[in-house]
Amino acid sequence: MKVGFVQTSPLLGRKDENVERAISSIRGVNADLLVLPELFNTGYLFESREELKRSAEIIPEGPTFSKMADLAARENVNLVFGIAEKEGDRFFNSSVVVTPRGGFQIYRKLHLFDREKLWFSSGDRELGVFDIGSSKVGMMICFDWIFPEVARILALKGAEIICHPSNLILPYCQSAMITRCIENGVFAITANRIGTEEKGEMKFSFTGNSQIVDPKGNILKKADECQEGVWTLEIDPGLAKDKKVTPHNHLFKDRKIEFYRKGNLC
Ligand code: ACM
Repeated sequence: MKVGFVQTSPLLGRKDENVERAISSIRGVNADLLVLPELFNTGYLFESREELKRSAEIIPEGPTFSKMADLAARENVNLVFGIAEKEGDRFFNSSVVVTPRGGFQIYRKLHLFDREKLWFSSGDRELGVFDIGSSKVGMMICFDWIFPEVARILALKGAEIICHPSNLILPYCQSAMITRCIENGVFAITANRIGTEEKGEMKFSFTGNSQIVDPKGNILKKADECQEGVWTLEIDPGLAKDKKVTPHNHLFKDRKIEFYRKGNLC
């Protein structure tokens, strides 16, 4: 199975341009699964709910979903991308997987980062795993990485590949994802953005370094911190079915859940 990530540099509020750029970089790439960054169409640094309202879209009726579903069909590729979602008067920082046949699933970011909490509602749905035929994929978004429960639940539900659209600012995630992969025996594709967004006092620089990590923690592919583009490689998602660490150790069966629950900490 050929998987990859698209590392982009979106411009805040220039949706049509951002989507067109991403689409033209994907056209002609031969892959089964491509992951794009968080909020790949809108940019990140919203300053008000009004500004977010102008960019957010209803899924699947909105134009970005529709263009990405067309692209998935034309290029015969499963796409995962981050998008600002509108439902009624609420906004979610969401990720969508769409298949070449138009099937799709939405994940709404559970753990909002910093000022995202001012505009977005946190996710209101369970973490899910989606069978795209060639593998089972789970989605998490950017800052979800710091809550190990997210990757764990996805792995327990059968995800072989964790798709991780991101707009990373802190320097720790790429290293932490190696641990997430080892402790859960899964692949992870972190698709990050590059570039800088500035508004008044605020300046956010995004760290790039998108990567694909295997269940043993090997970095199979890594971009740098300044280049846009698409990176792909061949993987065997079946490797994620093996949860043995040694002949006597199993990542899931060796857990001591009854002790973790003592004191009602979880
Ligand atoms: C982040 O969650 N976008 C840092």
